[in-house]
Amino acid sequence: MLRLDKLLADAGKGTRSQVKEYIRRGRVTVNDGVCKKPEQKVSEEDLVCLDGQAVGYVRFRYYMLHKPQGVITATDDSRDKTVLDLLTGINTAHISPVGRLDKDTEGLLLLTNDGELAHRLLSPKRHVDKCYLARTEKPLSEADLQALEAGVDIGDEKPTLPARACLNQDGALLLTIREGRYHQVKRMLQAVGNQVIYLKRLSFGSLKLPEDLEIGQFRALTKDEQERLQHDVAGYNAGEESLPF
Ligand code: URA
Repeated sequence: MLRLDKLLADAGKGTRSQVKEYIRRGRVTVNDGVCKKPEQKVSEEDLVCLDGQAVGYVRFRYYMLHKPQGVITATDDSRDKTVLDLLTGINTAHISPVGRLDKDTEGLLLLTNDGELAHRLLSPKRHVDKCYLARTEKPLSEADLQALEAGVDIGDEKPTLPARACLNQDGALLLTIREGRYHQVKRMLQAVGNQVIYLKRLSFGSLKLPEDLEIGQFRALTKDEQERLQHDVAGYNAGEESLPF
């Protein structure tokens, strides 16, 4: 059982205060009767409608955030602003970031209360692609790109897995990796004698950072995006060490 206003807010029908207003105005029915009490408890069996349209109970919620620099990838911090602080107007209970971006990295971050999907997306065995745009202190040579693609020693037990590396028209690096090791992109660039001076994540699996999602803004994933993410983590074959690109 959960509160009527929470069900509506979780279903993306508005912020908690907006949906309370809809309820008070008589726009919401529960099992065919108007209900004006936001605190009314409802269960999955109850038919809840807003303006005559059925509203489903939403168990899992998925958001993409265009993370700005200066914000930390955590759910709570006494000093710094966190990515959860940016998810304003929604119920953020049990919502966590999937993986982390450094404080000075910006770009695409997925947040969800679907722990199972998060776990699968982050599993090193599943090799979910992440594409980064990196500006570097010095220009990168063809040999650097080849080294990044082949895998470099970043001081861990094993070198990095094969990656894809190319330069865009501005000479910035587009690097697609399938792992998510600590400071991986920065350490890969250090391994070829360079330094990252700006880092942005452009994609995470099938999820792309939309051009119209401003820095600091977030939105719920569409059904299609959710399905494609599920597809990204389906069909893993145990023992598959490195996949050809
Ligand atoms: N690699 C890094 O070095 N930093 C990030 O934030 C993400 C990937």
